[in-house]
Amino acid sequence: MKREHHLSPFLRNPPARLDLATLPTPVERAPWLDAPGAAVYVKRDDQTSRLYGGGKVRKLEWLLANPPYDDRRPIVSVGGIGSHHLVALALHLQAQGRELHAWVFDQVPTAHTLKDLALLLSTGAKLWAVPTRPALPLAWLAYRTWARPAQPGVYMPPGGTTGLGSLGFVEAGLELAQQVKEGALPAPQALYVTGGTCGSCCGLALGLALAGLPVRIRVVSALERLYLGTYLLKRTLNQVFAALVRAGLRPELAALGPAGLLARAGVTWSIDHSQVGSGYAVPTAAGEEAVALAAGGGLALETTYTGKCLAALRSDLAAGAVSGPVLFWDTHGANDLRPHILPGWEARVPVALRRRLIRAGAALPAAT
Ligand SMILES: Cc1ncc(COP(=O)(O)O)c(C=O)c1O
Repeated sequence: MKREHHLSPFLRNPPARLDLATLPTPVERAPWLDAPGAAVYVKRDDQTSRLYGGGKVRKLEWLLANPPYDDRRPIVSVGGIGSHHLVALALHLQAQGRELHAWVFDQVPTAHTLKDLALLLSTGAKLWAVPTRPALPLAWLAYRTWARPAQPGVYMPPGGTTGLGSLGFVEAGLELAQQVKEGALPAPQALYVTGGTCGSCCGLALGLALAGLPVRIRVVSALERLYLGTYLLKRTLNQVFAALVRAGLRPELAALGPAGLLARAGVTWSIDHSQVGSGYAVPTAAGEEAVALAAGGGLALETTYTGKCLAALRSDLAAGAVSGPVLFWDTHGANDLRPHILPGWEARVPVALRRRLIRAGAALPAAT
């Protein structure tokens, strides 16, 4: 059965959407996180899909249903070697018999990162690997010139963050507001969500604003200030808003603009860089502690995004900086994906990348 489109009442021409996710995801109380005066709830987006959960599938539902991503061409996208976006895209494209091309940069080879790399390669994804984020233009150049694939892919931005993809999170905001209305949780005063490319948090902000649910959104950055700041957030907010307008947002709402829409509903946002530590995807002690605590509470977090986000929430709770009902949005897909990993995946790691990973301490067989 086709799922209800939460956005339909707001749009004259809602774009097509695939039903890849099982929604709504549950909201649960997490008393193990409570602090005096604060009651914590968790939005379980780890349960969005039996194939691959997490927030990514919310974006893919819209992206893969519309041009330029809805034909048989391969898709080319970008991320770290442990990118959840690339894993989600690879698995959902594989289910459609399609191919992923990935421009990847190195990350600290934790067990989690290596599992994601193993998954990526097991799906048949083809990698163009460079050591650092600033070197990504080299991967692009190789892809376009000397290491060109037979059929070039159509480009999808990092994190699947486009205006259209982020409509998945506008719907997520509306979904949460519906759950509040139905009594699944009280209206949260604050919502903690991790930020990378910011499609998730900007979509949520606009969805909550459309629903008229006032909330303070704390965007806990996984990225250094240079890569994630007010400029990126505002630009992404504008992109998502533009996608809503293209889809026929009701004129009285379109006239407000993104800032006006948020202000009317009392939705505010701020960015927290306190948990980035020494850089993107580098584990921190507070993040690891949060991951371990969450495991005891039944949540499978990771150290790049959701562990750091929970660490920020814990720090604010301990400082008494947050009170009332508080929501932690768990964006990490927690399915056990080990059955998708093919034996011998290591042999598919590009030789130069394998050498670098071994030097960084990864237990991989040496390149021959
Ligand atoms: C688990 C997880 N949560 C959140 C994010 C960030 O989402 P966004 O890029 O929309 O800010 C990512 C990004 O890849 C992620 O892997």
